[in-house]
Amino acid sequence: MDELVFLKLGGSVITDKARPETARPQVIAALAGEVAQALAERPGLKLVLGHGSGSFGHVVARRYGTRQGVSSPEGWWGFAQVAAVAARLNRLVADTFLAAGVPVWTLPPSALARCRSGALISLETAPVEAALAHGLTPLLYGDVALDDELGGTIVSTEEVLAWLARRLHPVRIVLVGEVDGVFEGDPLRHSSARPVPQISAANWAQVRERLGGSSTPDVTGGMRAKVEAMVHLVREQPGLRVHLISGKRAGALQRALRGEETAGGTVIWGM
Ligand code: IPE
Repeated sequence: MDELVFLKLGGSVITDKARPETARPQVIAALAGEVAQALAERPGLKLVLGHGSGSFGHVVARRYGTRQGVSSPEGWWGFAQVAAVAARLNRLVADTFLAAGVPVWTLPPSALARCRSGALISLETAPVEAALAHGLTPLLYGDVALDDELGGTIVSTEEVLAWLARRLHPVRIVLVGEVDGVFEGDPLRHSSARPVPQISAANWAQVRERLGGSSTPDVTGGMRAKVEAMVHLVREQPGLRVHLISGKRAGALQRALRGEETAGGTVIWGM
């Protein structure tokens, strides 16, 4: 039976967030290899793949304030620059996955999405469904988008995947980041930050208080915003499980794609 899983490769893992426009090609290739293996061993597995922008889009978007809106000629120039830099990283990701044998087809959210006041109000779903029906892996990413109130803005990969999840109902969403899931505090700054293996209705209020933002440029709100978006989604779709794992531990992605929660990190469920 077909099993639909959404996967996001975070900008924190596929780029060096501390250095502008610096990708991590070996990390991307290793993750592509794990995805290719998971697809080969599970014929029913269908994936919607997304990736963040890390030191590509976030740096330029912050320079031009693109998330807050676009109106001046300089702002629209910035909008085009953010689109270009996000697409440049996407090309690298797409080519790496194709080389690994994963049949990805890029669908740029900037061409599919419309926002109002920074929130997604529509996203063309038919091309994503057509890709899946034809055995392709649709590939989306954090991108610029037109906005009815703000002119232009930025949509994060989580916002795009959450929109698609409400229509396509994946069984699982796997989010791959630099750190091993959710911590109480910022594990990159404080080695004493404690990991949170599970988030459910029982501990969410307590975990939420201690969630960190981001220590590097992040125009879409860092870990706090990503986890909040996923908690909302799990509340709406009670069967859904969201698994946040590290992209730095070999084999973790493959295990998470199989649905094994021994892959470490954090599982969000039962909200
Ligand atoms: C950000 O997308 C998009 C741009 C800044 C263009 P994400 O929010 O999905 O990216 P990461 O994972 O935080 O890098």
